[in-house]
Amino acid sequence: MTSTHLSDATASTSLPFRTRPLSPSLGAELIDIDLSAPMSDTLFESVLDAWHSHLVILLRDQHLSEDDQVRFAERFGPTSMSTRGHFQSKNPAIMLISNIREDGKQIGALPDGEMHFHTDQCHQERPAMATMLYSIEVPSVGGNTLFANAYGAYETLPAAIKQRIEGRKALNAYDYDIAATTRGTKVREGVPSYWHPIVRTHPATGRKALFINRLMTVAIEGLSDDEGEELLNTLFDHQEQRTFIYEHVWRPNDVLLWDNRCTLHARTDFSDKERRLMRRVAIKGERPV
Ligand code: SIN
Repeated sequence: MTSTHLSDATASTSLPFRTRPLSPSLGAELIDIDLSAPMSDTLFESVLDAWHSHLVILLRDQHLSEDDQVRFAERFGPTSMSTRGHFQSKNPAIMLISNIREDGKQIGALPDGEMHFHTDQCHQERPAMATMLYSIEVPSVGGNTLFANAYGAYETLPAAIKQRIEGRKALNAYDYDIAATTRGTKVREGVPSYWHPIVRTHPATGRKALFINRLMTVAIEGLSDDEGEELLNTLFDHQEQRTFIYEHVWRPNDVLLWDNRCTLHARTDFSDKERRLMRRVAIKGERPV
């Protein structure tokens, strides 16, 4: 990432921490906060405001137990229990994301390599509002997480496309192997899926965001499979433009919190010879409108 257009950390008389923008499009690092210490309501309100303004917040050099991490996540709302029991950590709100295998068995979910852009749990009626990742082990190269600004993607769509998607829904399916390559309304039997508005309004900011993604969105209501696929591909190419993206290069002890209502995320490839271990907590969300 180039830093030429990004300012250094700024202190504000009204904020109890410094902030540093992470990219021109979204993201801010919040500096001078120790998440292992109790957080006052006043400090939390400022963190929440910063998160709503920047969509993704980063806090570096944090030394967090599982309980510390969950306690911070719960300030934003109730956490959702990991449904993938075998990747659950001691605290049931924590799911491990890892490529590590012990005795030939994966210890975490989403183990290997690149992932297309997506938003978490968009195949459910109430997708995750937010997701928090805490990095424990990271590869020397790759395994970066990319975030795209979904407000920016919506706001810059040509008027004719805005009109085509206005009031329409799209089908989101949890079928990582298939959805990104095979689109259409015929979701495989047993695959969880849900129809959500293509454009959703963020309940806290009132801004509209484009709520579809290449990994999980398979069809558009009222369009044939071919027409739907063509429009979806146009929307995916638009929302994945570099101008909307921040690419996070992880260091151990980073905490990142993203808002699934106005961002989407993806992951770059990394070597299966190197270890990657993250703790993830998802925070419950509302039904998109
Ligand atoms: C995720 O998509 O939730 C995981 C992202 C990552 O491993 O960087």
